[in-house]
Amino acid sequence: MSPQTFTAGSAPGAVPVVGHALRMMRRPVQFMSSLSAHGDLVRIRIGPTDAYVPTHPELLRHVLTNDRTFDKGGVFYDRARDIAGNGLVTCPFADHRRQRRLMQSAFQRSQLKRYSVAMQAEIEDTTSRWQDGMVVDAFPELYGMALRTVGRTLYSTPVGPEQAEGVQRAFDTVLNGLFRQMFLPRAVRRLPTPGNRRYARNLRYLHDTTQQLIDDYRRDGADHDDLLSALLASRDEEGGGRLGDTEIHDQVITIMAAGTETVAGTLTWIFYLLSQHPEIEAALLREVDTVLGGRPPQWDDLPNLSLIDRVISETLRLYPPAWLFTRLTAEETEVAGVRLPKGTTVVFSPAAVAQHRPSFPDETRFDPDRWLPDRVTPLARQAFMPFGTGARKCIGDLYARTEAALGLATILSNWRVTCEPDMDVRPVPLATVYHPRRLRLRISRRTSWETARPAPSAVHAGGDAA
Ligand code: HEM
Repeated sequence: MSPQTFTAGSAPGAVPVVGHALRMMRRPVQFMSSLSAHGDLVRIRIGPTDAYVPTHPELLRHVLTNDRTFDKGGVFYDRARDIAGNGLVTCPFADHRRQRRLMQSAFQRSQLKRYSVAMQAEIEDTTSRWQDGMVVDAFPELYGMALRTVGRTLYSTPVGPEQAEGVQRAFDTVLNGLFRQMFLPRAVRRLPTPGNRRYARNLRYLHDTTQQLIDDYRRDGADHDDLLSALLASRDEEGGGRLGDTEIHDQVITIMAAGTETVAGTLTWIFYLLSQHPEIEAALLREVDTVLGGRPPQWDDLPNLSLIDRVISETLRLYPPAWLFTRLTAEETEVAGVRLPKGTTVVFSPAAVAQHRPSFPDETRFDPDRWLPDRVTPLARQAFMPFGTGARKCIGDLYARTEAALGLATILSNWRVTCEPDMDVRPVPLATVYHPRRLRLRISRRTSWETARPAPSAVHAGGDAA
């Protein structure tokens, strides 16, 4: 990479003590996407720490694909290790390849096809509790569904409602406390304040419950076609080893933390975006009616639900639920002509490159059809990183897309979903996953004449559906 090709700069407006942290936490996507005005690599300040944000897709790819030099670490990952230990998301380069080989088989396509049955069962259980005309709080409702779905794919059997609610509450406290903890100096983190005690208590509860679930499962001894069986059975063909007890614990809690709020955030934003784009909503309804004709979706339907897939991609581009990760340079290196000494913090935010103009014409427009095979460009593919890229790319990307597509298809087939007017779509400040402060959905049963509506032959277009 030639240093002259890229520009470097600093973000203006750092304030004493917190730097850019407050602005970043209040309006994450706006803040991250504004940075490219100051260069391809932009220095920001998170509390006392200087950090560098790549805002050019090529630079971000350079960072993410050189995971030996840009290793996991820094303010985000230091705290994430409280929750996920040395699991696949948080482990350093030195442990990663072995763990990834061991985990990979549990996320193969053939496995996902199996999980899709458990996913669909949980989606149907959730929606069967809905009643015509009821109003639900989008994010908590969809988060509950995502957590029970992960539980069911892990353990094949449904997780009891009390246990699911307890875990949901504990994750709520811990994940919402994580960013706060990130900014507190170590001495303050250790003070017995009510907030710190609550964080520690809920963290303990999560670790204890996770261990209990694994112990019960092992005691049961049966071999199921589920994620936990796949993890317990996984072997490292190169090294011959398998995951140890602590590693299994860390992987289970990692999957519960990484694979739930992210999916709920995606679905929540989709419902908001559909309310703002009725022509795209109408095209989606035609797609689900044509493909499913009122029956529940299944794995084999997914290739035919292509507009759903494009809506998911475009939502992830503009509203990336996982928006802040950090790296720490393991050795001195240079990016965009800037010398980064060993131990420098580099920020990975998909939002910093998601509105890169040459990659996405009319970059702020919600346009799912930009992902049509004959429209999508290599530049757009390169700049699309809501799941990261390189060796540390999300292992659950297909899992997440499958769950979101099945959830959306099931809901839209049976229910008309509208947003209540009291929405407040500013993001929840300091939440780990990007989601709106208030979005309530009114759920009305679709009438039979609506679901039986004749479908036009073309079902793919978002723009031509009005
Ligand atoms: C829309 C939903 C999701 C989004 C946006 C998302 C996003 C991401 C991103 C950006 C990374 C890379 C982090 C980095 O480079 O620092 C990642 C890694 C990871 N994600 Fe996801 N994720 C989602 C769903 C899931 C699901 C459903 C699971 C599991 C069931 C999962 C498990 C993981 C794991 C284990 C890693 C670490 C991979 C590695 O380092 O080898 N994620 N995710």
